[in-house]
Amino acid sequence: MLTIDELYDLAKRRRSVRGYDFNEGKDIPREDIEKILEIARWAPSAGNGQPWQFIVIRDREMREKIVELYLKQLEPKREMEFALRGERNISSPGFKNAPVFILVIGDPRVNEAYPVRTREEKGFQHFTTGLANATLLIHLAVAALGMGSQYVSDASSPYMATMLKAYLGIPDYFKIYELIPVGYLKKPISPAPRLELEQLVHYEKFDPKKGRSDEQMKQFIFSITRRGAYGKKDNQRDHQDRA
Ligand SMILES: Cc1cc2nc3c(=O)[nH]c(=O)nc-3n(C[C@H](O)[C@H](O)[C@H](O)COP(=O)(O)O)c2cc1C
Repeated sequence: MLTIDELYDLAKRRRSVRGYDFNEGKDIPREDIEKILEIARWAPSAGNGQPWQFIVIRDREMREKIVELYLKQLEPKREMEFALRGERNISSPGFKNAPVFILVIGDPRVNEAYPVRTREEKGFQHFTTGLANATLLIHLAVAALGMGSQYVSDASSPYMATMLKAYLGIPDYFKIYELIPVGYLKKPISPAPRLELEQLVHYEKFDPKKGRSDEQMKQFIFSITRRGAYGKKDNQRDHQDRA
């Protein structure tokens, strides 16, 4: 049985690993991928609908095609970022050398597993939460095996999702949820900052002292989030892509 301290260590050790941390030379055994996905299938899902399917992509040519898609869809993303915010710091795919990509896709027909009112009110939310839970378990399992993974959420943007369906023969009714490159780390990376526990926890009632003003929220966004480059100067960043 995992102890609470081991769980804490695992939660803290899981990192979004990007770029140079992957080592193309070292392949991942199929058994490890199966262990990871065996864990993912125990994720909780609304109505036990288990909306997930996992596509494991090892083929180098296909991975390269996926990286090309990613780069192509970055163009309008960059343009929009610059047009609205004057910011230019969305950069290229650090995940390109990961030896395995896992694509998490969801079958929305499982929403019939919910009561009618739930399906109508919260169908999409429940479906997405199930996929998110399986995705998180994948990341944790990868970390437990001493490897690294990351989210490539642009996989679900309309252009990339459509093309992924075409390349991988995925039926159109599926939702492309998340692309997860998996690989070995070349060197450990430092944790991204988190808010302190005392800033987040309210006992019995919402504590107004912990409510953040718009100004405080702005400071937060431009400091320790990815938009604020985790509070580091640009030239100190060890993370290249942005969510
Ligand atoms: C829903 C979701 C989408 C994300 N999308 C991306 C993404 O597209 N690219 C990326 O590099 N990181 C992505 N991330 C990773 C976050 O940037 C990352 O979790 C956060 O900066 C904290 O860093 P950590 O995961 O190393 O603790 C995503 C995370 C979540 C939960």
